[in-house]
Amino acid sequence: MASLKVFCSLMAVAYFCCSVLEAFPGTGRVGGGVLGLNPELYRLSCPQANEIIMSVLENAIAKDSRMAASLLRLHFHDCFVQGCDASVLLDDSKTIVSEKNSGPNKNSLRGFEVIDEIKSKLEQVCPNTVSCADILALSARDSIELSGGPHWEVPLGRRDSRTASIKKANTHLPAPNSTIQTLINQFRRQGLDEQDLVALSGGHSIGVARCVTYRQRLYSQNGNNQPDLTLERNYYNGLKTVCPKVGGDNNVTPLDFSSPVKFDNKYFKLLLWGKGLLNSDQVLLTGKARKTAELVRNYAENEGLFFHQFAKSMVKMGNISPLLGSKGEIRKNCRRLN
Ligand code: HEM
Ligand SMILES: *[C@@H]1O[C@H](CO)[C@@H](O)[C@H](O)[C@H]1NC(C)=O
Repeated sequence: MASLKVFCSLMAVAYFCCSVLEAFPGTGRVGGGVLGLNPELYRLSCPQANEIIMSVLENAIAKDSRMAASLLRLHFHDCFVQGCDASVLLDDSKTIVSEKNSGPNKNSLRGFEVIDEIKSKLEQVCPNTVSCADILALSARDSIELSGGPHWEVPLGRRDSRTASIKKANTHLPAPNSTIQTLINQFRRQGLDEQDLVALSGGHSIGVARCVTYRQRLYSQNGNNQPDLTLERNYYNGLKTVCPKVGGDNNVTPLDFSSPVKFDNKYFKLLLWGKGLLNSDQVLLTGKARKTAELVRNYAENEGLFFHQFAKSMVKMGNISPLLGSKGEIRKNCRRLN
């Protein structure tokens, strides 16, 4: 079995062999959770892939420090809508109603040009090989690393969808004013548990949100003209200046104002201090779910523990319903079907 394992890691293309290994508990590859996905997939077929992706990202993030956050979110919004299949990247066409115009995505998702740049560079050196869905997963991983977060192996081999679902984008992506129970249910529907919910919410350690996504908390949390009383007083007063009762819908503010471009566990410390920006952030602690509240406290106290679980949960999220084998296609242009 040991020599078979060595053979496997040398022969990236032989993923059927690695699938055999996975059938024997304890002998499978680290990081390869889903039968058929394989972290070594492009080792022979596109050895330059990692370097190309990393160098495009370095430039993009140097130009726009928010880009790391935007690319992380793109992968999340891909995976929660018919699986990690790059459906989120498809533009409107005769046969496609783009997910980009759904409520959670419109005027909000960004980073598409960066994915285009990576894809066109990859098509030049290894055409028809690296899927758009894998580019999203690798870009999210590398963005976290460039922001000071943990590193993990990404199982690869997701193929790209030939469909999109604006309907699922509207219903499966969690809303910022969700209750804790709604969040738990929406993650469970994707095969993700409370540990995944809390760790992945730590993605809000970087990036920003628009006033429209948290205004309700400032002015009418319970439809009674009262603010959300879990908001710390000074933080609340500051937010009101960025986010007035009327207008300023698109004014942005950091999700983690203490270190907005650094991936760390400050997000969880802020929650302990009543300084979570979105309702969906704060209710992880205050929502009367004992389990999630305890996890928030653990991650606030122990950054290593948070990094470890975040990496694990990212792999799990990245493994949601991939298209395998002859399903889907490898798009030449991430915005349209071949
Ligand atoms: C738990 C449920 C979640 C809810 C309700 C939620 C909601 C939101 C909202 C409303 C925004 C601001 C969008 C805007 O104003 O344009 C946002 C931003 C963001 N979200 Fe989430 N999110 C959730 C989970 C996640 C997860 C699991 C990740 C990744 C692992 C993630 C990563 C991000 C990032 C990085 C940003 C900032 C994007 C940027 O600056 O461009 N979120 N989220
Ligand atoms: C969340 O916001 C939407 C739209 O703004 C609203 O229809 C809904 O009732 C709100 N949900 C909660 C739980 O406040």
